[in-house]
Amino acid sequence: MDQHSFIALLNEDLESEYRSIVQYAQHTATIKGAEYQSIIEELKVHLHQELDHATTLAGQIAFLGGIPSVSVPEIPSVPDGAAALRLDLDLEEAQLQRYRDRVQQAMELGLPDVAEALRPLLQQTQDHVMDLQGALGE
Ligand SMILES: [Fe+2]
Ligand SMILES: [Fe+2]
Repeated sequence: MDQHSFIALLNEDLESEYRSIVQYAQHTATIKGAEYQSIIEELKVHLHQELDHATTLAGQIAFLGGIPSVSVPEIPSVPDGAAALRLDLDLEEAQLQRYRDRVQQAMELGLPDVAEALRPLLQQTQDHVMDLQGALGE
């Protein structure tokens, strides 16, 4: 792994965070039902944290000499609240694995400062996974 490939992966992480922002904005507005009220409040907290994650990633990419992406990935449409939460959990789980890999790679590249900047994303993404697992009864 060289720094160029690492920056490309960080840009994919950034695009995934853009997807989270758009996906949570839609899901918090459209998921209906009394049984979902508490998870919707949690998702609104996630939404704001995703903006922090995107900002951190864009800053680290620029710091390393890259250009932060402005592409938002396509977001699948879902038939109901349960499917929306499942889509959210799948995305958070994928991001958790990405950040585990990215912190490791940053250390291997001799960039402990970048690894440190990514640590809050790692921990908050695990929290998001746990919130969604709880809501889905897993
Ligand atoms: Fe995030
Ligand atoms: Fe998240």
